[in-house]
Amino acid sequence: MITLPGLIDVHTHLRVPGGEHKEDFATATAAALAGGITMVLGMPNTSPPLSTPSRLTAAMAMAERDARCDVGLFAAAEPGQLHHLPTLAETAVALKIYLNDTFGRLRVDKMPDLATCFRDWPRHKLIAMHAEKQSVAVGIGLAATYNRSVHFCHISRAEEIDLIADAKGRGLPVTCEVTPHHLFLNEADATRLGALGDMRPLLGTQKDVDALWAHINDTIDCIATDHAPHTLAEKRADNPPPGVAGLETSLPLILTAVSQNRLTLDRLITLMHDNPRRIYSLPEQPETAVDIEMRPSIIRNSDMHSKCGWTPFDGMDAAARVMRVTLRGDIVFENGRVLAEKGSGRVGM
Ligand code: DOR
Ligand code: ZN
Ligand code: ZN
Repeated sequence: MITLPGLIDVHTHLRVPGGEHKEDFATATAAALAGGITMVLGMPNTSPPLSTPSRLTAAMAMAERDARCDVGLFAAAEPGQLHHLPTLAETAVALKIYLNDTFGRLRVDKMPDLATCFRDWPRHKLIAMHAEKQSVAVGIGLAATYNRSVHFCHISRAEEIDLIADAKGRGLPVTCEVTPHHLFLNEADATRLGALGDMRPLLGTQKDVDALWAHINDTIDCIATDHAPHTLAEKRADNPPPGVAGLETSLPLILTAVSQNRLTLDRLITLMHDNPRRIYSLPEQPETAVDIEMRPSIIRNSDMHSKCGWTPFDGMDAAARVMRVTLRGDIVFENGRVLAEKGSGRVGM
């Protein structure tokens, strides 16, 4: 048995409003607890997106009603709505800017809009970016120009992690996260899995995967799930949406890597708790812990608490299982069962 602090996932798609058939605050936070995660930061590419104060406030109210673990929400940078940024910053945990196309339509590609984000978003709150390929260079350029921190979501390519390593080497204020799917799956898995292995960024080559692992102890700041649930029916239909679930498989997979000496348990805690908390200035969760049993266990769709009910890791061996999660002194998950009530999580960071 080992005990960890409550983990923090800084990249979760909670799907409220507009995607409640895929996931909602009650089911996503149940999945989080089952995965040893006691705080999630929710992405704003909902329908409609969280780019206005009224939408953000309404989503926060739904989270307060339903969440079983602690939740912060990102504000969305949406062209045409950027005058709301200062008001959004009063409640949002951070700002999310999409520089590339993905699920939802939030791409910001006009320089004046990017400049507005960097000028008007308060400096004490972070800017996170979905940036792929050369867009990473755009983000680094903005961080340098405005001398403020930028956090890069789900970095997946060798050239991207190398560029961020060089930027950090020059002292630029950038941080980044990687996902378990980009650490454990490659383009051969994408072919095998079809739509169930399709997400943005796409799965990389084995060379990309190796480059991420080579930077696990230096350039990479966080492991984040990019939990992006879609229903199996949506994935099997024409034009399936990109995205895969990840809240319940992240910790078992990273602990498997620990058991194979690919990283230390201390490094896991840095990547999944300490750095997320420091980078996003998140509150401490007292009397909060995750008890783990290091025993082989197979990842199964049927064990998932996420509403989507599937994982791209179905059938894979993991070296550990979450046995019990305690949040602020209450046992909220034990022996496969989520015990936390809806509305028991704290909302707003
Ligand atoms: O695969 C993805 N799915 N990547 C994203 O950036 C968005 C996400 C989603 O919301 O489904
Ligand atoms: Zn993204
Ligand atoms: Zn995402």
